[in-house]
Amino acid sequence: MCGIIGYTGVEEAQKIMLDALEILEYRGYDSAGIAVCGRDGSIRIRKCAGRVKDLRLLCEKSGIFGTCGIGHTRWATHGGVSDANAHPHKFGKVTVAHNGIVENYRDLVQRYHLEEKLQSQTDSEVAAAVLDHFYNTDPLAAIRKTVLKLKGTFALSIMFDDIPGTIFAVRNVSPIVIARAQGGSMLASDVTALGQYSREYFVLPEFYVAELKETAVELYDMAGEAAEPEWLTVNWDVDRGSKGGYPFYMEKEIMEQPQVIRETVMPRIQGGIPDLGGDGIPDSLLMDCKRICVVACGTAMHAGLVGKALMQSLVRIHMDVELASEFMYTDVIVDEDTLVIAISQSGETIDTLEAVKHAKKSGAKTLAIVNVRGASVARASDYVIYTNAGPEIAVASTKAYTTQLAVLYLLTGRMAYVRGSFGAEEAKAFAGELMRVPEVMQRVLDRKEEIHYIARSILNAQNVFMMGRGLDHAILLEGSLKLKEISYIHSEAYASGELKHGTIALITEDTPVVAVVTQGKVKSKEFSNIKEVQSRGAGVILFIKETFGLEKEASWESVFMLPAMEDGFMVMPASAALQLLAYYVSLDKGLDVDKPRNLAKVVTVE
Ligand code: G6P
Repeated sequence: MCGIIGYTGVEEAQKIMLDALEILEYRGYDSAGIAVCGRDGSIRIRKCAGRVKDLRLLCEKSGIFGTCGIGHTRWATHGGVSDANAHPHKFGKVTVAHNGIVENYRDLVQRYHLEEKLQSQTDSEVAAAVLDHFYNTDPLAAIRKTVLKLKGTFALSIMFDDIPGTIFAVRNVSPIVIARAQGGSMLASDVTALGQYSREYFVLPEFYVAELKETAVELYDMAGEAAEPEWLTVNWDVDRGSKGGYPFYMEKEIMEQPQVIRETVMPRIQGGIPDLGGDGIPDSLLMDCKRICVVACGTAMHAGLVGKALMQSLVRIHMDVELASEFMYTDVIVDEDTLVIAISQSGETIDTLEAVKHAKKSGAKTLAIVNVRGASVARASDYVIYTNAGPEIAVASTKAYTTQLAVLYLLTGRMAYVRGSFGAEEAKAFAGELMRVPEVMQRVLDRKEEIHYIARSILNAQNVFMMGRGLDHAILLEGSLKLKEISYIHSEAYASGELKHGTIALITEDTPVVAVVTQGKVKSKEFSNIKEVQSRGAGVILFIKETFGLEKEASWESVFMLPAMEDGFMVMPASAALQLLAYYVSLDKGLDVDKPRNLAKVVTVE
């Protein structure tokens, strides 16, 4: 959580940083601030509780000018949301913007007698104070000594009063990427903030120190030896990072899905058969494992549930899906026969990262499905498959989810083929249906106004229930999360058959129910369960595969006919419909769709 930025070069740092912070804001958006080293060599700070737009107003009234600065957008962890707790923090000769958590900050306060000296309640100011304690004239030595004292995660961008024009950066777990751009050097928490300035960047390795100057970036290891950065190239168009004429990133990202799914799938079909050779995934990895365990959080975990249903029915392999945050504390059984698949859009979710490290220690092979290139989860895993979704800015995940699903289909198809569950013809038929997904999903997106209309019937609801069985249930868990996080309506997704074991007590005529019916083998049971809630007065919004047909006497709040695919693939068009439903509820409630309250897109705290 939190976004950090740094710029040193020939241009005004304030403007570059404010623009970049707006892009990084999805990482946290309860306060923002910048520190700029002025032409007279002094460092000035502007910061406030609120959004980057509030900081911009502050800077319009009272700008700070100079060509070197660091900035921050915050998601509060230690210390409430206040001007004083906003970053950057200055202590003595040191100014710092921090992403992460210094877990031992209380010990450090005592050890360095900081009780009376701090201006904020943050762990980050303590890091600045420890740096100041160690700083004499050698910044690298002070940084080395400080990081040895810090426990926890950190990405620090640092300016020293007496080294104007230079920014230092160091990190453990929390990300920092660095580029040469805009007549100088830049750093940021992620590459979306740098993409408009440079196509080349590198990920700062953990426990290396970067020194950014107008003319160059130097990299040192902890022993002070110079090191060579590993340069990467941005692999998406710059306009993928903009709203492209849509009112919110979420709508744009929903509408991009056919294209990004195509880009994820097509390079991985060879001779008509799913093939992950280009990603360096050996068939032996898929053939030798005896079970699969997914570790992931939030939406990515929901993608894992769809993967589990597919793998179990088509490959007949045992598969578990574990919440990454619980994985290490619930004695999950993983061993050298287990393939652990870590799914993460950002590749920076700390729980997922820790779960991967834990799985490796247990002897498991690890495979990451990640969107952001070079991200920590990808680096920590033995193998990686990148989803080609491009930057996802809206906090509520959409295209990252469906590209994760696309990769899970590819994995299932390949695994079924190499393990003999599919012959060549079945593998080709499976891949053929997967290649139809973009076109079928487009047909749902083209009818978005129909879903906008349907969304009106849940606009004023306090509670919504969602029901379905099997794959329908798996995607409703995600559909329900989407609705909760961006509309603030309480929503629960239930396996239809389970509702009657207690929860049906909550169904009244004021409880809209969203039902998804796309699976032939459970269709009639799903209809029986729908009748149960209708008998309790609930109005039902039905998303149904168009070829299934409706009983004449049944009455519906509304019905949306989903374009037909093989049942196993219906999750794709149905997911798009559910995303649009949540989007339009949030939009019509006048909420900030892209930045729902209390959330952050990248969760780097446990
Ligand atoms: C946060 C985001 C969710 C996301 C989850 C996991 O909670 O708001 O949208 O699903 O983290 O993130 P990851 O980057 O690991 O997929």
